Amino acid sequence: MRRCSGWRRFLFCLPLIFFLPHMFSVMELHQKKNSKKSDHLVLGPAAGQGLPNRLQCEGIKAVNKTHSPTSHISIGRESIAFVTVFAIHNSSPNTHVDDRSSNLVTVGNASYSKVERSMAILNVFINFIQVRMPQSSIIILTDLVSDLRMHRNRVAVLPIQNEYSRDKLMLQRIMSYIAFLETRLEELSHMEGHISHYIFTDSDIAVVDDLGQIFQDYSSFHLALTFRNNKAQPLNSGFIAVRGTSDGILRAKLFLQKVLEVYSSKYMSASRMLGDQLALAWVIMSDPSFDRRKFTKAQVFLEKIGGASVLFLPCAIYNWTPPEGAGQFHGMPLDVKVVHFKGSRKRLMLESWNFFSSYGNISDMLCLVLSSGRTKYDF
Ligand SMILES: *[C@@H]1O[C@H](CO)[C@@H](O)[C@H](O)[C@H]1NC(C)=O
Ligand SMILES: *[C@@H]1O[C@H](CO)[C@@H](O)[C@H](O)[C@H]1NC(C)=O
Ligand SMILES: *[C@@H]1O[C@H](CO)[C@@H](O)[C@H](O)[C@H]1NC(C)=O
Repeated sequence: MRRCSGWRRFLFCLPLIFFLPHMFSVMELHQKKNSKKSDHLVLGPAAGQGLPNRLQCEGIKAVNKTHSPTSHISIGRESIAFVTVFAIHNSSPNTHVDDRSSNLVTVGNASYSKVERSMAILNVFINFIQVRMPQSSIIILTDLVSDLRMHRNRVAVLPIQNEYSRDKLMLQRIMSYIAFLETRLEELSHMEGHISHYIFTDSDIAVVDDLGQIFQDYSSFHLALTFRNNKAQPLNSGFIAVRGTSDGILRAKLFLQKVLEVYSSKYMSASRMLGDQLALAWVIMSDPSFDRRKFTKAQVFLEKIGGASVLFLPCAIYNWTPPEGAGQFHGMPLDVKVVHFKGSRKRLMLESWNFFSSYGNISDMLCLVLSSGRTKYDF
């Protein structure tokens, strides 16, 4: 009792103005710990306001005009194909049965089961590419050819025999890329004149600007990777561009084979999502001529790694994603080209597409992404 009354006196003597904000922040912390991932769009402050060359927003209205309505940059006889690996994982053999009733998630007007969610992401991935780079095509590498009823223009579904189990997905993905490049090398020997460049990406990205220009602006690279200033994981494996010449495809294939070899020998025990990135970083960093200080500046650079000419593109523009949680974050560059809806941001990817297809404004959509990108969603 004595302690209690002492504590009470302490409480009531405190100036309220000091105490209240403190109490709220404790409550918020407590709530965050227990809270579930959000099932609706949450908008916070947009980062990077007041910084030069960062997107400025008023709510979800862009102050800067950033991207033209559609880019129709033609690169002559060359074309671009996006390549993505797609696999569906059911956590138990029965999920199909109770999936619909117990696990529905609603976005806009539509409800999705778990499997439907993966399909919706894939479709939105395709939508963005077709709106922003209408002359490009999309190739889906999958073991689900019969299940994947994908009847869309300029989209091809290609069977690649592999074991797409969840814990080996990243390993299988590199193997699929290599197998794909091998088929292209063979095809190339029968074809003349036409060149198709390839961009291998995760399917949870939105292409918001033309990417064909990298093959023109930087004419001497074989493959391109995205980097960031992060000590442990300087490279992201979610975006790999390959020049469609026989030299480009061959060098890229040999490079990925090296990454695969390092993955298999050094990183098999790494978390299933990280092995390929660690292997990628190892191959780059172990090159004696490579200077890792180049990762500290968000500027494009070219480097010879083994026999390949590798173009390094800053994630800030070619693979933009806000850090989750409280990490430092300087907003969104005005010339961002790819937004990556990593981790718990898949709902935001669908909401962004819905927003864009309603209002047709990429800049405003980017403000939506910027102010919402740190929320963890349920989808
Ligand atoms: C998009 O919105 C921005 C800012 O509100 C505006 O400047 C721009 O003209 C709009 N673009 C289109 C294509 O409507
Ligand atoms: C973006 O808009 C802000 C606010 O109008 C302006 O100060 C800034 O110069 C603009 N940035 C660019 C690169 O146009
Ligand atoms: C939802 O449905 C309503 C009525 O059918 C329609 O007007 C609206 O555009 C739809 N919204 C979306 C995001 O599809």
